[in-house]
Amino acid sequence: MTAPKKKILLLPGDGIGPEVTGATRKIIDWFQRAGRTAFEITEDLVGGISYDQHGAPVTSAALARAKEADAVLLACVGGPKWDTLPFKDRPERGLLAIRKEMGLFANLRPAVVFDVLAGASTLKAEVVKGLDIMIVRELLGGVYFGEPRGIETLPNGERRGINTQVYTSSEIQRVARVAFELARKRRKKVGSVEKANVMESGVLWREEVTKLHASDYGDVELVHMYADNCAMQLVRNPKQFDVIVTDNLFGDLLSDLASMLTGSLGMLPSASLGPKEASGRQAALYEPIHGSAPDIAGKGIANPLAMILSYAMMLRYSFNLSADADLLEKAVHNVLSAGMRTADIVEKGQSAVSTWVMGDAVVSELARLAV
Ligand code: IPM
Ligand code: MG
Repeated sequence: MTAPKKKILLLPGDGIGPEVTGATRKIIDWFQRAGRTAFEITEDLVGGISYDQHGAPVTSAALARAKEADAVLLACVGGPKWDTLPFKDRPERGLLAIRKEMGLFANLRPAVVFDVLAGASTLKAEVVKGLDIMIVRELLGGVYFGEPRGIETLPNGERRGINTQVYTSSEIQRVARVAFELARKRRKKVGSVEKANVMESGVLWREEVTKLHASDYGDVELVHMYADNCAMQLVRNPKQFDVIVTDNLFGDLLSDLASMLTGSLGMLPSASLGPKEASGRQAALYEPIHGSAPDIAGKGIANPLAMILSYAMMLRYSFNLSADADLLEKAVHNVLSAGMRTADIVEKGQSAVSTWVMGDAVVSELARLAV
């Protein structure tokens, strides 16, 4: 009897999502045809498109499918069309519900500068060349999910908006552990980021990370930093960082900031992971860092590489297929080195190719490398 096929759920979402998913699908199909993978692949809806078709940004059936999958690959959600909906119906809620239901507490957001793209950064090339940072963002706590929350009307007629920043020691420790483990496989340095000078939750964050470091990770260097200082340091001298671990909201901000150091939001993948179960199974969702880019949706010019590289991350982290992940990353590097660019990363003297052509180029390069 052969083992049951591993299940992948694809969620193309909104905006440029379907296009970049289409290009990524070519890569996934190449691995299937080459007999390197044998996944069972299904697709479902999330975001505005799900709201349009089913009246909810994610259906319970799609949620169930996501939980059942061995890994989920999501493109992006959102767009101006749905911006005026009540919170509960917005595309982003679909993504947040998936994170919550799948228990994805650790969001890994690498900011890596590809040598051939160092010129594309708005920072001086020498500041960013060789940059390789990993931001570990807590994804299930803090102000994103804290209660109480809402908008209320006070007796005097004033309105008040409320969100709550809240963390427990175990929530802090489990994400810090992920950061320390990753650092061990990298340059052994963790920067823990909060606002302990203003927020109690930040004080607790600092204390818990310090405790865990002392008990289990003495071999890793730990520095604490306030979030505002971290933002400044990321622009001043980003190469001082190896792994950064921070809360949900600061992680949201700092990862956007860090991604732009690389000059190419369209290049960066991410992984969101749940707890490792005793069986070794671990809930995982992979997605590009970029959003749905409604301004260019449907034009066929979006860069599919962030999603393609998210698929490489999936091969590596969820399925232990490091050789295949390496192969795919190498194919992407080679295509870029050959001067092929989508519009977002095009440099002087180059002409931009479409989403499809980029996908095809990666497939051809895979086929060439694999022989
Ligand atoms: C992200 C996005 C999401 C977030 C939105 C779409 C809900 O900005 O993944 O960084 O704020 O977490
Ligand atoms: Mg964000």
